[in-house]
Amino acid sequence: MAVLTIRTLPDPVLRQKTKTVNRIDRSVKKLVADMRETLHADPGRVGLSANQVGVSLRVTVIGIPEEEDIILINPEIVRRKGQRLVSEGCLSIPGYIGELYRAETVTAKGLGLDGKEVRIKAEGLLAQALEHETDHLDGKLYIDHMDSMDTLRKIEPEDTGKEI
Ligand code: NI
Repeated sequence: MAVLTIRTLPDPVLRQKTKTVNRIDRSVKKLVADMRETLHADPGRVGLSANQVGVSLRVTVIGIPEEEDIILINPEIVRRKGQRLVSEGCLSIPGYIGELYRAETVTAKGLGLDGKEVRIKAEGLLAQALEHETDHLDGKLYIDHMDSMDTLRKIEPEDTGKEI
């Protein structure tokens, strides 16, 4: 396993739509292992998508503190409900945080590492992370959802855990 370098703006890989995984083979399993190690290299990290480490595949790993990692291959959001204002940052836009609207609850589906379908209904930070990571896989970033860049600010110590 290895801690990988996290790509940051303006790296073009972050703006490309990632490719569907057709087969969960050894290379995908190794990628997931490396992504998990990279995610846990800093306790403030909540989620990581494959294109953030330079691999343009639909693979994401979410690590909510105190909970087991969620690995999703080919994830998609199938339902969104409600709306709430959140503060959100991204490991690929280091040092900044902005305000935007996210759904109150989301339902996501994808495949686990064993190839079986996983369906997750989530609220709070997990819902936010699911939206944030599926956006990454479509080449989108949280700043795309901001009405105005006026709320973009420098990250403060109390924002720990908001970089997704
Ligand atoms: Ni991010």
